[in-house]
Amino acid sequence: MVERRGRIVILEGDITRLDVDAIVNAANSSLLGGGGVDGAIHRAAGPRLLEECRAIGGCSPGDAKLTRGYDLPARWVIHTVGPVWHGGGQGEDETLARCYRASLSLAESQGLRSVAFPAISTGVYGFPLARACRIALREVDRFLERARHVEEVVFVAFGADALDAYLSAERERALG
Ligand code: APR
Repeated sequence: MVERRGRIVILEGDITRLDVDAIVNAANSSLLGGGGVDGAIHRAAGPRLLEECRAIGGCSPGDAKLTRGYDLPARWVIHTVGPVWHGGGQGEDETLARCYRASLSLAESQGLRSVAFPAISTGVYGFPLARACRIALREVDRFLERARHVEEVVFVAFGADALDAYLSAERERALG
């Protein structure tokens, strides 16, 4: 299922299979790998990804770092660290918004044209899916208004629930 609105695409699938300029990884501060989408990306990229991540030395929540994609179809990986959900009173919304802004700024400064995002923080880190999708769409919309290089942003829903959440958030935006 693919939904397209201008330069935004919403699809269900596995982000490691996408042939885009960069895929975004929902990493942890160590950048040394983990489960979820992080584990899948490291498995698909091969061991050279971990080597490069080791040399970076970590990443703060809300920030983003760039590596090559190695054995992935995507040429680059943008690693960002989302907030752990603690109920919403600890700046989680803003940290998540910063993940999207930092990742897109990095893509823009690298001259990349297509970027794919997983639903950052909505797995192990427990951020509510619907709320996360609204923030993601808002930040990407704002960013695309000014982007010079980034032409297309793909939201990858991992499973039917995530797809529903993105499509509902998208409908809400369209209704204003
Ligand atoms: N493709 C796309 N999305 C995926 C994939 C995949 N192959 N695998 C998982 N996802 C989705 C999950 O369904 C979830 O919606 O990515 C979203 C983020 O989930 P997590 O990977 O658990 O990431 P996050 O909640 O940000 O937690 C980060 O998990 O594995 C660790 O190292 C990582 O410690 C960090 C933490």
